Amino acid sequence: MTRQDDLQATIDDLVQEGRGVLAMDESHPTMAKRFEPIGVESTEAHRRFYRALLLTTPGLGKYISGAILFEETLTQQTDDGQALPSAAWAQQIVPGIKVDKGKIPLALSPGDLITQGLDGLGDRLKTYREQGARFAKWREVYGIEEQAPTPHGIEANAEMLARYAAVCQSEGLVPIVEPEVLMDGGHSIERCAEVTEGVLHAVFHALHRHHVVLEHILLKPNMVLPGKERTQANPEQVAAATLQALRRTVPAAVPSINFLSGGQSPEEATANLNALNQRGEDAPWLLTISYGRALQQPALHAWGGKNENAHAAQQALLKRARLNSLAMRGQYRPEMEND
Ligand code: 13P
Repeated sequence: MTRQDDLQATIDDLVQEGRGVLAMDESHPTMAKRFEPIGVESTEAHRRFYRALLLTTPGLGKYISGAILFEETLTQQTDDGQALPSAAWAQQIVPGIKVDKGKIPLALSPGDLITQGLDGLGDRLKTYREQGARFAKWREVYGIEEQAPTPHGIEANAEMLARYAAVCQSEGLVPIVEPEVLMDGGHSIERCAEVTEGVLHAVFHALHRHHVVLEHILLKPNMVLPGKERTQANPEQVAAATLQALRRTVPAAVPSINFLSGGQSPEEATANLNALNQRGEDAPWLLTISYGRALQQPALHAWGGKNENAHAAQQALLKRARLNSLAMRGQYRPEMEND
């Protein structure tokens, strides 16, 4: 198989109607933050148990086509000794890997952030591929303030995402390109729309400059939402604003848009995805998920660090995955939460 065939095969396995991506690639500090409210210490053993539980949920593959893993997870095993990437693939869930090394302030550019991790990326990808990863993820982060993100910050971040995506494709891994405009703050939905549009515009220019093949990426954007400190918009408003920003900036060659949840509640994230798909005729791409918190939160709380709750946790994950799958077809109704 050529590199291009490899990339296309991965796209074919990931991009399927009614299925989406599970983000479970929390770094150690983030995992500690997620475990803290349920009173679980973030040890290697606890992370392994919890993540093995997620990946071996019976029936999960019906709704989930890919899982973004953290480095450590690639080398961990289930209780009966199966490597976690193989356990995922056993139900046709493609294993992927988060490859960025987190964000820092962009030097001399107050309010802007930048993500690290390009040095040595090609070599790291070779190792991850041997360990079973077939796609990758890199996240750039943009906080909304009065003067931020700046035009220079937007350009610098776009350049990083494009360089990462080019290295991934040259190593045969499908890049998930994630520019996340944060929900934090008191800004309006119109301001989020303006920033999101500017960010995506710069990202696709940079991808073009870097010869990235758009048919072989997934885009993982934020939805266009008002800041967290404001009253939230209804799903129809979110869908209209989000689709407008995407249609203005994302070429139809991109096969799939996999939204992040970004701090929305699980129910909000599902209802918003549903509204997006009800307007699906406006979209040349598949509109699906790459949710972290909005898929995992109920499962994490059902587990609560107690091994005897593993089944309940898997059922909670499966329920969210199933409801999001319905939302991918525009067939979700809030009453279904009580079924
Ligand atoms: P959330 O859905 O919790 O925002 O996480 C998605 C993700 O992978 C962020 O990089």
